[in-house]
Amino acid sequence: MCGITGFIGYEEAAPILIRALKKLEYRGYDSAGIAIIHDEKIFVRKMKGRINLLEESLVENPLSGQAGIGHTRWATHGEPSDINSHPHTDSDGSIAIVHNGIIENYIKLKQWLQSRGVVFLSDTDTEVIAHIINHFYRNGNGAILQAVIETLKLLDGSYALAVVCADYPDRIIAVRKDSPLIAGSGAAGSFIASDIPALLEYTHDVYFLNDGEIAVLYRDHIELRGNEGEIILRATTHIDWDAESAVKNDFPHFMLKEIFEQPKAMEDALRPRLKKNDLNNALNNTLIDFDEIKFDENWADARRIVITACGTAYNAGVIGKYAFEHFARIPVEVDIASEYRYRNPIFNKHDIFIVISQSGETADTLAAMRLIKQNGGRVIAITNAPGSTLSREADTTVYTYAGPEIAVASTKAFTSQVMCIYLLALELGRFRGHIQGGLYQKYIAALSAIPAQARQILDKKEVIQRFASRQYNKTKMFFMGRQFDYPVSMESALKLKEISYTHSEAFAAGELKHGPIALIGADTLVISFATQKVLFEKMASNIREVTSRGAASLVITWEGGDFFDTITDETFALPKTEDCFSPLLAVIPAQLFSYYCAIQRGNDPDKPRNLAKSVTVE
Ligand code: AGP
Repeated sequence: MCGITGFIGYEEAAPILIRALKKLEYRGYDSAGIAIIHDEKIFVRKMKGRINLLEESLVENPLSGQAGIGHTRWATHGEPSDINSHPHTDSDGSIAIVHNGIIENYIKLKQWLQSRGVVFLSDTDTEVIAHIINHFYRNGNGAILQAVIETLKLLDGSYALAVVCADYPDRIIAVRKDSPLIAGSGAAGSFIASDIPALLEYTHDVYFLNDGEIAVLYRDHIELRGNEGEIILRATTHIDWDAESAVKNDFPHFMLKEIFEQPKAMEDALRPRLKKNDLNNALNNTLIDFDEIKFDENWADARRIVITACGTAYNAGVIGKYAFEHFARIPVEVDIASEYRYRNPIFNKHDIFIVISQSGETADTLAAMRLIKQNGGRVIAITNAPGSTLSREADTTVYTYAGPEIAVASTKAFTSQVMCIYLLALELGRFRGHIQGGLYQKYIAALSAIPAQARQILDKKEVIQRFASRQYNKTKMFFMGRQFDYPVSMESALKLKEISYTHSEAFAAGELKHGPIALIGADTLVISFATQKVLFEKMASNIREVTSRGAASLVITWEGGDFFDTITDETFALPKTEDCFSPLLAVIPAQLFSYYCAIQRGNDPDKPRNLAKSVTVE
């Protein structure tokens, strides 16, 4: 959703703000703008469309100044337009703000301001904030910080907010509630941004603002304050992400780069959790060891695991259901976070709660986590984002270590989440006595081989590219599979619809005859995952059922066999691993297929229409 940034320092602000906004592009947006302070005046430039348009306008007609704020807007209140773009100012143009979030009581506030003669220029909820700050500023003691603090007391909803005031050219005030915001200082000056990649070029040491906290940025330092203005002393958090990991390098798109980063991402999720056993017992020489998690009596007594998440993270959670039930023989319930939070779920003291989120900032996922905690549950978070709200509020955090994921369509975050889930499930299986030495070692060896096998799949990317170039214009594309292949089908259908805008659906292959088969015809492509050997015959029947009705067919299955060759148009062969680990490999050709379909259709896979990387509002 919207991206915000701010800079105050020793260099021209406009180019720095534009660079930061470009790093936040992945969040999704329809307009962009900046406000620069110069000679104790505020200059705003904002417009509908891509950041490049704003940049070109600034080249033609530069805004000079060493402090400013910037924004990419993802429209919620009011259509995408120049006027509705941020920054918004108060009536005399001396205060400018950028905002990410939703002010739920803005109509009431707007009516109150209008009754006092304030004229609104935009349809946004955000504009009220600028006018209210002005109200408190003009009617108070002239302290901008105090005016912001008073304003916040009137706002219901979520916000990450940055404020500049022409009378205070030496500072930027930033605050957050339920929307992400980080602040950091480097040699060039002080910065704020919605997310880490925007700051990596300048600093790796950042403050993750907590709800209600205010950061006052000066060119050489940052002051943290509480919601009444009291000073807070806290150390910064060091982010060891490489600035290079947030640039495309030689790849045409972040999505393709991130698909290709999966062998490393899975390796990075796996390696820190594998420890050599000191006893050097040949049968048990490697152990899974999560420093973050101690398998104690809570795990021994657990009667159920509850997993909650959204989107791709939810699909990883469904794989988790199959994995925990398979390895640890414990019942698992998986819930979409937006459903879980409103459906009055039942809590039990013997439940283990796992919440999954790449960004750690998804509004519904955070709400689900808070609900669990209010009901006495302890939450294990699986996330990719250090310092995210989820990681700070959960009781335990398992990091996926995938590095920044910029493309809206999640790829490496998914496979690294699934890798972490397998490790947890396997270790729980050992701890609860369901998996013994030799088998445990066999599974660890299989997981250790996955990164290299993923590379082999990526080496065959042209096979998928060619297939996509023949099939991309099918009007309906379906994915089906059984057992571990079903959640992979779900994730593949989500990926395809996100970036190719093709109507795609997933179904458990056994459900085919219960409805979906009515949709099958010559305009249909069905991609079948067939990696569960005991179900090969059943999958073969399902594939025949779709091809005999005219559908084109691709089967993704293990190499070395020709079981499906005669009944499908095309087969993609995966290097062999344990059937239960197939999702880690099988999803890769499907990701590539989505990517190449998007390219064939002329879409930008990194910035799919209507989507935002991190859904920070409901
Ligand atoms: C994935 O391709 C999607 N962009 C989306 O479904 C995403 O997985 C979902 O919004 C959850 O995000 P999170 O993992 O950051 O919580």
